[in-house]
Amino acid sequence: MKTPRREFLLTSAAALAAKAAPPEQEVHAAMIGIGKRGSTLIQQVLAQPNVKIAAVCDIDPQARDNAQSVARRDNPRSFTDYRQVLEMKELQAVVVATPCDLHAPIAAAALDAGKHIYCEKPVGITPEQVDMVLKAARKSSAFLQIGQQLRYVPGLRKVIDDIRGGIIGQPFVIRAQRDSTPVRPDAEVGRPSWYKDVKRSGDLIVENAVHNLDVCNWVANSKPTSAYGHGKKYFPTPEPAGTWMMDGFCVEYIYDNDMHLDYSQLYMHPRILKDLPQGQWYFVFGQKGTVDLTKGILYGLNETQPRELIPASERGEKEDAMTQFFTDIREKKQPFADVKVAATAALTAIMGREAIYRRRMVTWKELGVEV
Ligand SMILES: NC(=O)c1ccc[n+]([C@@H]2O[C@H](COP(=O)([O-])OP(=O)(O)OC[C@H]3O[C@@H](n4cnc5c(N)ncnc54)[C@H](O)[C@@H]3O)[C@@H](O)[C@H]2O)c1
Repeated sequence: MKTPRREFLLTSAAALAAKAAPPEQEVHAAMIGIGKRGSTLIQQVLAQPNVKIAAVCDIDPQARDNAQSVARRDNPRSFTDYRQVLEMKELQAVVVATPCDLHAPIAAAALDAGKHIYCEKPVGITPEQVDMVLKAARKSSAFLQIGQQLRYVPGLRKVIDDIRGGIIGQPFVIRAQRDSTPVRPDAEVGRPSWYKDVKRSGDLIVENAVHNLDVCNWVANSKPTSAYGHGKKYFPTPEPAGTWMMDGFCVEYIYDNDMHLDYSQLYMHPRILKDLPQGQWYFVFGQKGTVDLTKGILYGLNETQPRELIPASERGEKEDAMTQFFTDIREKKQPFADVKVAATAALTAIMGREAIYRRRMVTWKELGVEV
């Protein structure tokens, strides 16, 4: 007799580990990479009801000691090698916040071991890395949620739903920006060495802009087919892109559905320049008007006044991506920011980076990855 698929899945130890726990049952989780970001995430995990931090893992003994002390309530085991963590049978979930170049190998190994994974962005910094995680996810009984937490901001979700619902008719163009003043040299000193090394971080567009590009993909409800752009490390003296992390770039993307996106990120925005706002913003231009996504304001082409799209009571509501991660484990649901969202965002950023480096248009096809 043929084994029913569900029964078959449950026979492997990996699948057993990934089996969703009923609400009353404790979920055992491990933290891998507990530096700056991991120290925030460990607090978020500790705040979850019925979740135990069973292990902490970092190559830095100081980071391990700090994490063990922060999570002393749960008395976690301490590891330097993530592969040993993934051998823990009782473990159902891992939270990964290592340098970017390690996300894909750790994520793929976690998925192979049947552990649900909350993985910091980007899911990979090369097309090959992204492909590796996608392949592991297809075979795994566990899921990956990507740390693109903007997907869990309630206001943003509402406004994007409004756009999908036709509030500006057909959306045509997205203009998005993430500007800041030049990074002070003393602020650079505190950065970890992997961050500045584009071979480890993926460069600014992949390490950082991946959040913003993901929001644009979400709005477009599509994936880009090509990118063209330019960028450099401008400060303190201009250097070509490709060695040290850029501090300024602009990319133009054309989407599958023929929308286009102008994205720029410049760390040279004078504080006194107010006519062009600093920080992160997105404007979506369509048939019937334009939406300021960040503020949730609609500017109708035929209206005389802008209109607020987010009720006052919901403005400024924070994301809670970590709570949703453990809820989805328990409820056996796929995450909203799943592996496809992760892969599409990473590939969008990688395509933009390659266009900048190669000084020519780069197409999605050239990346050679099936999402
Ligand atoms: N989602 C967000 O808003 C957000 C914000 C900041 C950073 N991040 C991402 O989080 C990740 C970590 O950034 P960070 O600022 O915390 O960096 P960090 O350098 O402070 O921390 C990385 C930690 O990983 C450890 N590590 C290195 N190799 C390891 C290995 N093989 N096994 C286990 N641990 C290892 C390091 O010792 C360090 O403690 C990056 O990918 C970054 O892009 C995301």
